[in-house]
Amino acid sequence: GVNLRGRSFLKLLDFTPQEIEYLIDLSINFKNMKMNGVPHKYLTGKNIVLLFEKTSTRTRCSFEVAGYDLGCGVTYLDPGSSQMGKKESIEDTARVLGRMYDGIEYRGFDQDLVQELADKSGVPVWNGLTDEFHPTQMIADLMTIKENFPQGLKGLKLTYMGDARNNMGNSLMVACAKMGMNFTACGPKELWPAEDLVETCKQIAAETGGSVTLTDDVDEGTKGANVIYTDIWVSMGEPDSVWEERIKLLSPYQVTTKVMDNAADDAIFMHCLPSFHDLQTTIGQDIYEKFGLKEMEVADEVFESKRSRVFDEAENRMHSIKAVIYATLK
Ligand code: CP
Ligand code: NVA
Repeated sequence: GVNLRGRSFLKLLDFTPQEIEYLIDLSINFKNMKMNGVPHKYLTGKNIVLLFEKTSTRTRCSFEVAGYDLGCGVTYLDPGSSQMGKKESIEDTARVLGRMYDGIEYRGFDQDLVQELADKSGVPVWNGLTDEFHPTQMIADLMTIKENFPQGLKGLKLTYMGDARNNMGNSLMVACAKMGMNFTACGPKELWPAEDLVETCKQIAAETGGSVTLTDDVDEGTKGANVIYTDIWVSMGEPDSVWEERIKLLSPYQVTTKVMDNAADDAIFMHCLPSFHDLQTTIGQDIYEKFGLKEMEVADEVFESKRSRVFDEAENRMHSIKAVIYATLK
């Protein structure tokens, strides 16, 4: 059987398809327990710390609720409230936190930093998003896909529209390759994933029966897809100055009803959130005033449609993060 005790969860590339499937199924079990009111304080007496160098709603709340449900003590540290990176190195921070906590969640910039925390702290470290990867999101997403396609993940076509060079594009390409799915990145060549990662994923896909396709053709890229996925056009940590170019490059790749109609009959729409499906936020209003757009990566009518699974996906973050914490700390 699969045993992930003591392991860090930094990127899906570190895990076998069997291990990933185990985490998906464990997430579904935890969801059932929660729905049926079955208590599961399996980690009473353990403590976890959540370090965030970028903002968050879903990931932070998922780790907190999952931790409480499992019986853990939970500490949240935002970038302003610890010494890390300012007065104290990552290495020293890791060694201190490793003395007090049983597990550490980290959201930040470089993948190297989360790796260093894992190397130096001596306890499991969970990547809550870096510039390169967002692995806990992948377990929630694969779980959501499995809920909608109970026959299994193998052979399903997932098309990711938009900025395929960001953490979501990278992570979905790896996740699909690992699970024997057919991944298509549909966007401008400038925003295709890095060649070495594409090569790695193609090799993985060759073993699992999946595939990796890159295309700038919307019609071809989305045809027959079971899942249409997109993400925000500018990610956390990128300067505001890139909006203009991204809007120019990515406007043709907006997920519209026409795109959904070109996908399979049973196609679902997914998005990790937060989303600019309408611009009713402060940043959204700035963009509206500057560029005159009303919606960005996804049309509001798709986001609000029957095919949209975005809030199931958000809920599933909590169940799947619970599975990751439990599997690595049990
Ligand atoms: N999807 C996701 O990671 O959302 P947050 O940035 O709100 O955590
Ligand atoms: N690509 C987005 C994902 C947010 C969950 C970002 O990094 O901001």
